[in-house]
Amino acid sequence: MKYYALAAAAAAVVVCAGCARQAPSGSGAGGQQGKVWNIGFSQSNLGEPWRVQMNADIKKAAEAHPELKVIFKDAQNDTATQQNQVKEFVQQGVDLIIISPKETVPLTQPVAEAMDKGIPVIVLDREVQGDKYTCFIGGDNKQIGEEAGKHVVKALGGEGQIVELKGLMTTTPGQDRHTGFVKGIQGSGIKTIFEADCRWLEPEAQKEMKSALARFDRIDAVYAHNDPSAHGAYMAAKQEGKGREKTIKFIGIDGLPNEGVKYVRDGILSATFVYPTCGPEAIDAALKILAGETVPKRIMLPTTVITKETLEAKN
Ligand code: FRU
Repeated sequence: MKYYALAAAAAAVVVCAGCARQAPSGSGAGGQQGKVWNIGFSQSNLGEPWRVQMNADIKKAAEAHPELKVIFKDAQNDTATQQNQVKEFVQQGVDLIIISPKETVPLTQPVAEAMDKGIPVIVLDREVQGDKYTCFIGGDNKQIGEEAGKHVVKALGGEGQIVELKGLMTTTPGQDRHTGFVKGIQGSGIKTIFEADCRWLEPEAQKEMKSALARFDRIDAVYAHNDPSAHGAYMAAKQEGKGREKTIKFIGIDGLPNEGVKYVRDGILSATFVYPTCGPEAIDAALKILAGETVPKRIMLPTTVITKETLEAKN
């Protein structure tokens, strides 16, 4: 794991957040018998497999520390609900908040307000604006986008027409996966002929891909910002009934064993890029913060590419 850039301001916040608290047992700072730390976790939705996996990872990591009690809340993909969940955690007086925001801008203020009340906040996957949070942990979406772009250039022999099915563009992963990709295809003969914001949703991607197929006789590849969208695009091509799902290359992101990796194994996707859930790292950071230790302001986790070749090389 690579840790980047520790901001001095963050260190101050972290130390302050931890100084009034007793240290959790097992942490470097020693423990206090019987003390339970309440962590409020607001997940943006549980309708998508990647988020279900993130919750499972957080639950498993927390279970190894009986002094931690995680209160799980599901915002059901609704921004206002998630804003209220953060406010409720503040009113409850939890010791620490973990949030995986639905959207960047609207969750910035509630997170900042929690920080103002002295509650440390760990932000996962999608960012908030500014620097009023304790620690951000996420996958490197610019790197993923760039590698996806390079993969497309190579897979198409340097030129071709592609469709980009974006994630929700009011989120940083959507924005970064796009700019990274543009960088990755720069200087090549790859042309984006159709793009749409599919909000991370498979049915939306399927609908948009149907339009793209109707408009363009030649589509060489689809770059989808997540595996559900890549699968939706594949299904649209299959349902069109012209066999184009066999010639178009579909590329996705997330790389869950039972989703993207399986699609690659089944020949549906030409590649997926693993997007770490950040669950274990979040609990690790929470323990340190509660113990009054400093953590890096930003923790970026690297990706790995999954293709038929990488799967075969593993066997
Ligand atoms: C799940 C998800 C993932 C994606 C991530 C980006 O909600 O759409 O598929 O990688 O969010 O924030």
